[in-house]
Amino acid sequence: MKALVYEGPGSKEWKDVPKPQILESTDVIVKVTKTTICGTDLHILKGDVPETKPGTILGHEGIGIVEEAGPAVKNFKAGDEVIISCVTSCGRCEYCKEGMYSHCEDGGWILGHLIDGTQAEYVRIPLWNSLYHVPKGVDTDALVMLSDILPTGFEIGVKSGGVKPGDVVAIVGAGPIGISALLTSQFYSPAEIIMIDMDENRLKEAKTFGATHVINSRTEDPVKRIFELTENKGVDVAMEAVGIPATFDICQSILKPGGSLANIGVHGSPVELQAQKLWIQNIKITMGLVNTNTTPLLLKTVVSDKIQPEKLITHHFTFDEIIDAYDVFGNAAKEKALKVIISRD
Ligand SMILES: NC(=O)c1ccc[n+]([C@@H]2O[C@H](COP(=O)([O-])OP(=O)(O)OC[C@H]3O[C@@H](n4cnc5c(N)ncnc54)[C@H](O)[C@@H]3O)[C@@H](O)[C@H]2O)c1
Ligand SMILES: [Zn+2]
Ligand SMILES: [Zn+2]
Repeated sequence: MKALVYEGPGSKEWKDVPKPQILESTDVIVKVTKTTICGTDLHILKGDVPETKPGTILGHEGIGIVEEAGPAVKNFKAGDEVIISCVTSCGRCEYCKEGMYSHCEDGGWILGHLIDGTQAEYVRIPLWNSLYHVPKGVDTDALVMLSDILPTGFEIGVKSGGVKPGDVVAIVGAGPIGISALLTSQFYSPAEIIMIDMDENRLKEAKTFGATHVINSRTEDPVKRIFELTENKGVDVAMEAVGIPATFDICQSILKPGGSLANIGVHGSPVELQAQKLWIQNIKITMGLVNTNTTPLLLKTVVSDKIQPEKLITHHFTFDEIIDAYDVFGNAAKEKALKVIISRD
């Protein structure tokens, strides 16, 4: 079969590799029909994730059809159409029982990271608990967004930040994750959602997804502007969806007393926490790795058309065009890309 193999920093190839086999009784082999690329794949390719070894097949998102199920697999059989979760979970260990699938003792984020991933014609999913049935009659492009970005924005941004009706929410970063947080914040009817980015096109997109205000932090001081927009009060919830000190700083500077800072971004270097200012403001700070334990809930909202995550998809490619897909996604600002879909045919 063909797969997108990480060959070491700066290098990848779409090439022939052995088709995966069942190794454990709980394994499922999935014939991948659609996958996508995540910013994290770009981080791995840059060499920022040293635990990913050269030779690993990338990708942790996708949908497909069960090709073969191990003897201990329950609920799934050959021919079933499935959503693959970016986080693998057994459902039985101490962490899984608390809904913290990201720290599953046998799983966690391993796909396309520690084991071969989904940017391939077939993938081995080690624990069937991390698969979900595809409901009939739903746009399958939309369901690819359930593998990672929607649960991430919802769990680590919206739920951790505790968005409530009437809140003023600010989201820094209007990439796929920030937009997912924007979409799922609206379950709770906040009064205002202010998006901050430096990319004018993404801010324009954010408005179509429900942002009430947008701030371009390249041309305006976002902190000053937020206090102007909120009668000098600040925001109830600030979500960080970039992963750099500058955007964490914006978030810790715009909260009103009692507010929440929900950090979603993956940071590669330390941030300077203004504890001396924040303690007396009763600020809560949360951060974390997505669990994907909200996937069933999110799936229902997609099926009922409460949210339309397919609108995040800007480009389509076939498997043999995957290198072009990487070129487009890697130049997202220039190409006006948000999410790309790579299909088997
Ligand atoms: N916590 C988790 O489990 C989890 C899961 C997936 C992704 N992530 C992380 O979420 C973050 C966002 O992911 P994404 O795929 O949307 O990334 P992305 O790179 O597509 O989007 C980031 C956005 O931030 C904007 N930006 C960059 N610098 C800025 C600045 N100084 N001020 C304002 N805006 C700025 C960019 O223009 C871009 O639109 C990344 O750090 C990613 O690694 C976290
Ligand atoms: Zn991802
Ligand atoms: Zn577990």
